[in-house]
Amino acid sequence: MDVDDGDAGLELVYLLRRITGRLDLMGSEFAAANGLHPTDLRALVHLLDARREEIPATPGWLSGKLALNSASVTALVDRLVRAGYVRRTRDNRDRRRVLLTVQDEAVRLGWAFFGGVTRDMLAAMREFDGAELGIARRFLERMHDVVRADKPTDPVVRLLPLDEATTERLLTVAVHEARPIDVMPPVPDGDTWTPAAENAFREFHRSHFHGAHGTVMYAVEAEGSLTGMIRMARVSTDEAETGMWLGRSARGKGIGTAALRALVAEAAAVGVRTIVADSTSGNAAALGALRTCGATLTHHGDDVRAELPIGVPTR
Ligand SMILES: CC(C)(COP(=O)(O)OP(=O)(O)OC[C@H]1O[C@@H](n2cnc3c(N)ncnc32)[C@H](O)[C@@H]1OP(=O)(O)O)[C@@H](O)C(=O)NCCC(=O)NCCS
Repeated sequence: MDVDDGDAGLELVYLLRRITGRLDLMGSEFAAANGLHPTDLRALVHLLDARREEIPATPGWLSGKLALNSASVTALVDRLVRAGYVRRTRDNRDRRRVLLTVQDEAVRLGWAFFGGVTRDMLAAMREFDGAELGIARRFLERMHDVVRADKPTDPVVRLLPLDEATTERLLTVAVHEARPIDVMPPVPDGDTWTPAAENAFREFHRSHFHGAHGTVMYAVEAEGSLTGMIRMARVSTDEAETGMWLGRSARGKGIGTAALRALVAEAAAVGVRTIVADSTSGNAAALGALRTCGATLTHHGDDVRAELPIGVPTR
């Protein structure tokens, strides 16, 4: 598409550039005042976001976020460790994996940088009502989608029917990157993984091996790694229900959409004509994946029912 000088949207593009430019400048000034390289500050911001979103941050993950090679990331992490902002720890469940844990000093630094501007932004937002902020959010999310560096096009996804070995691998993903409540029917203390919760996970998945009870569960493998689960539960001869979850670090990269596309192909092969799913209006990622695959969404208050006729072309 050619850019038309008269396009009203251009004004918004320039405004976004001014905001990001100004924030970048503030970041560089703040980094210099605290003896940090601007990239070190960017790394700390990613690590603080990961801590808030409970994403396990590894050096490999950080090198993807910063688009730096592993030698540069090692040097950068060394600097942050020396300055007391980050610690390298061994993952308790996988001793080969190194995790980067931000220290309280980094949180204080982050707040010293963002605190003032965050407070001022929040105060300015009170000039808008909920509906206006909802539109602002949708607009900013779309702009973020356009510029984000880590959005691969159509990741290669395979669905692997669950067996004992795959279930164990899936459990490792679940324990590292999800809560029990996200991945199976409720267990006591569904926020924390305990040996009992791990056994409940095994039992729950075992009870659906080989399509038992009309439900086939698949591990979702993306670019060679297990990332989560998607299921197809037969409701009638021509209708099936679906649901899925992905580990936190796999979300938002198109894997959910690709897994749903793959499930549609599986369903079509066994004669299913409609796939249905239940979600909530706040689950933008689930609704986005369903919509992109051709589902019609019907809202009932906060509940959303998705119906995906098989045979409708997906984009
Ligand atoms: C729901 C889930 C499986 C979706 O998979 P995903 O790989 O994260 O989703 P995708 O990256 O394929 O994105 C799907 C769409 O949602 C959008 N999206 C993704 N993450 C988003 C977010 N956090 N906020 C807003 N939109 C988002 C994408 O832009 C995409 O829309 P588009 O096709 O119009 O570009 C995954 O996010 C997840 O496991 N969530 C937690 C468990 C859960 O909620 N399961 C569903 C229960 S119904």
